[in-house]
Amino acid sequence: MNSVQTPAELRAWRAAHPAALGLVPTMGFLHEGHLSLVRRAKAENALVAASIFANPAQFNNPADLAAYPRDIPRDLALLAGAGCDLVFLPEPADMYPPGFDTWVIPGAIAAPLEGEHRPGHFRGVATVVLKLFNLFDAQRAYFGQKDAQQLAVIRSMARDLDLPTAVIGCPTLREADGLAMSSRNSRLSAVERSAAAVLYRALSAARRAWLAGEADAEALRATMRATLAEEPLARTEYVSVAHPDSLLELERAMPGAVLSMAVNIGRTRLIDNIVLEAAGVIPPPGGIQSTAPGQPNPDNRALS
Ligand code: PAF
Repeated sequence: MNSVQTPAELRAWRAAHPAALGLVPTMGFLHEGHLSLVRRAKAENALVAASIFANPAQFNNPADLAAYPRDIPRDLALLAGAGCDLVFLPEPADMYPPGFDTWVIPGAIAAPLEGEHRPGHFRGVATVVLKLFNLFDAQRAYFGQKDAQQLAVIRSMARDLDLPTAVIGCPTLREADGLAMSSRNSRLSAVERSAAAVLYRALSAARRAWLAGEADAEALRATMRATLAEEPLARTEYVSVAHPDSLLELERAMPGAVLSMAVNIGRTRLIDNIVLEAAGVIPPPGGIQSTAPGQPNPDNRALS
């Protein structure tokens, strides 16, 4: 596996390796969820590249950026083991040199939920992802459905700006108790880690209610809030039952609706989501997933 630090080095590598490329953008401290993206990229492209960059522009809270876990040697070993061909490891000054002053402002899809609770977050995400797309010139880029709104924002950007890279959403990977895999989980103490399972319990409780015939979205939100309230370490920021295209709150739930939440457990902010299936469909073990493996979204349109 090769590694490069600067945009110029990355462009030189790409010029020497022009084959079809799958890109996995990350902020590091990799887990099995990231590796599943690398493996899928490997299966669908001649070459696979990853980026590791804890993008300062998307952290609205400097303490959150400072506390973001890092372990580059471990990440490199994991990427090499998963068959990655190139890793891009820029420093902030490589991505935002002095004088940098151009930003991507995502539209309405970025306004609710994470956009409301983390002002400026999606401006930072969209800007860095556009830069990565331009630098890598990849055929496909892989993102986890755990960050459902991020995926929707990136899809909208790719569609609206005619980006040639296909945006591919991949299923959320979960621990045995349902907790969505996330680099942030490493910041949980043992007691917080077991409390964190409440997010998926709450999502699952709402899904069960939906499957049992409850279509009132406020009742589903109440079910999630009530389950979260049973866990004393959980502080709920929001729960949502939203339309899959707009991510705006629904009055009546529908197949495809996105159930999501942001919950603080101690000092760690966790997010998670599931997509409602049609009533009568039995969810697979481990929960509802999103895009079927192997199905790129050529028009970069659908959320899942
Ligand atoms: O999901 C992430 O890890 C980041 O938001 C991303 C897409 C790598 C952009 O910094």
